Amino acid sequence: MGRIILTGDRPTGKLHLGHYVGSLRNRVLLQEEGNYDRFFVFIADVQALTDNADNPEKVRQNVIEVALDYLSAGLDPSKVTIFVQSQIPQLHEITQFFSNLVTVQRLQRNPTVKAEMALRGFNSDAEEENRRGLPVGFFTYPISQAADICFCKATTVPVGDDQEPMIEQCREIVRSFNGTYKCDVLVEPEILLPTNLACRRLPGTDGKAKMSKSLGNCIYLSDTPEDVKKKVMSMYTDPGHLKVEDPGKVEGNTVFTYLDAFCEPADFAAFWPEYSCLQEVKDHYRRGGLGDVKCKKFLLNVLNSRLEPIRARRAEYEKDIPAVYEILKKGSEAAREVAAATLHEMKDAMKINYFDDAALIASQAEKYRK
Ligand code: TRP
Repeated sequence: MGRIILTGDRPTGKLHLGHYVGSLRNRVLLQEEGNYDRFFVFIADVQALTDNADNPEKVRQNVIEVALDYLSAGLDPSKVTIFVQSQIPQLHEITQFFSNLVTVQRLQRNPTVKAEMALRGFNSDAEEENRRGLPVGFFTYPISQAADICFCKATTVPVGDDQEPMIEQCREIVRSFNGTYKCDVLVEPEILLPTNLACRRLPGTDGKAKMSKSLGNCIYLSDTPEDVKKKVMSMYTDPGHLKVEDPGKVEGNTVFTYLDAFCEPADFAAFWPEYSCLQEVKDHYRRGGLGDVKCKKFLLNVLNSRLEPIRARRAEYEKDIPAVYEILKKGSEAAREVAAATLHEMKDAMKINYFDDAALIASQAEKYRK
């Protein structure tokens, strides 16, 4: 059994630097290493609709945004199959069969679902006026996510650590399916997390724990150099570092967290030859005598040098949007074929392959002849 990589994103907004260091950059590296049999990246529009059912236009707009973000980040459609979840009807069949193997109680224990329910007021503990009914489709999305992973027998799922409970639940479903139907049709996936801690959960530009559209603290891949400059120059640092001479704190200082996530050794020679590595900069900042503005200017140069090739590719793809839709269409066709093959094996294992099973038909005929 070879290596099959799969991952995806909900099209609820443009992708930002958190997505980039948390997963997107890693996907491009995996693509370049070439150590896989198949590589699928998909836009999870069905999942996006589980809590945006009343806002299909938002999902529709963001499908193309996310596709452009993928392509401009460097995903190559000749190496990676890029597809749209809603275009693979087999995923719904797989989800339905999986839902018989999962209890309501198990779903209620999923920490990601719990946290998201609280965030959206979908739970009984929420304040009365914030309380909304819990959509069944939202509650069961971990089952649908397991189908996303299993349709291609993915072995490797590169995602952020917030997705760990989803992968664990998927692994349970795989064990349950193979155990219940006494087969080895499905494969337990492994999660692939970023090794660099600063990349696992990049804080927002305001220093809050997470970069997120609703907090308004994002730098987007599609931001212009002017946008990025404004955001970096007003970034949260160490509130106790008032004068340049003051000793500064590096821990919890967003500028340094971003440098941990983005800076590469070659950046010093290119943009800040006074220092030879990040450790030297940190030491100086801690001692005192190094101002925030200098650090921010360096970070801005680093970010722009990462974002420049992304902007250039985006500009090219934006010239031919129909071609981008065509990439998604072709990818979806390819994914459908793989899904149909897996579903066929699953139905065999589940004994619901009535019309393909000549032996069944013959034995039933025999039984009723008597
Ligand atoms: N839940 C993921 C997110 O919010 C998106 C997603 C849907 C996904 N299905 C997946 C990720 C399957 C990896 C594998 O980002």
